[in-house]
Amino acid sequence: MGLKCGARFALATLLLVVLMMSVPTTARNVGGSGNLGFGFNYTNWAQRNNRIVVGGSQHWRFGFNYTNWAFQNGPFFQNDTLVFMYDPPNGTTFPHSVYLLKDFRSFMTCNLKKATMVGNVVQGGGTGFNFVLKERKPYYFACGERGGVHCNMGLMKFFVWPLKPPCKG
Ligand SMILES: *[C@@H]1O[C@H](CO)[C@@H](O)[C@H](O)[C@H]1NC(C)=O
Ligand SMILES: *[C@@H]1O[C@H](CO)[C@@H](O)[C@H](O)[C@H]1NC(C)=O
Ligand SMILES: *[C@@H]1O[C@H](CO)[C@@H](O)[C@H](O)[C@H]1NC(C)=O
Ligand SMILES: *[C@@H]1O[C@H](CO)[C@@H](O)[C@H](O)[C@H]1NC(C)=O
Repeated sequence: MGLKCGARFALATLLLVVLMMSVPTTARNVGGSGNLGFGFNYTNWAQRNNRIVVGGSQHWRFGFNYTNWAFQNGPFFQNDTLVFMYDPPNGTTFPHSVYLLKDFRSFMTCNLKKATMVGNVVQGGGTGFNFVLKERKPYYFACGERGGVHCNMGLMKFFVWPLKPPCKG
């Protein structure tokens, strides 16, 4: 296991170096320490908490750019838990939900027709709704409210493709 892991890490590191060399110097490290500037957060790769609150302190809300969030907080690994936090609807808060869209095409267009609801409007309350990335396959998340308006206009969508977990942690 040790050698395999070492080899895998070396390969990943090599890939990073190659990727970095292909990025102009000025574009590197634009996001500060640990961010290589193109969506690969090295800090996340090296040391991570496998429970990730979607949107961070912004939680799951209308108008926050989740594509950008996923870009900056990736990569995600198999068995990582995504936590969606959103208040249950009442007179003043808008309802939100969590749907899995069928494919990239429906993701691009926020087409909910073949989507599966995984978290309903009340499940994001309290400590949030947990979704475990059990498989190494693309997951297309979106808010299913208002017939896709929250997904389209509200930017409440992102996709992740979990990687094989690193050897440690
Ligand atoms: C959201 O973020 C992505 C990735 O950074 C960017 O390409 C896109 O233009 C942003 N969308 C809006 C509406 O700002
Ligand atoms: C990279 O990940 C670390 C740890 O999760 C986080 O503190 C940091 O803000 C992230 N960087 C960016 C640019 O998102
Ligand atoms: C993910 O979790 C499942 C269930 O706990 C476990 O059987 C599987 O080996 C884990 N996969 C990885 C890559 O850690
Ligand atoms: C609705 O929920 C929000 C967030 O939890 C809360 O701040 C607000 O007071 C609630 N409004 C009502 C009418 O209960």
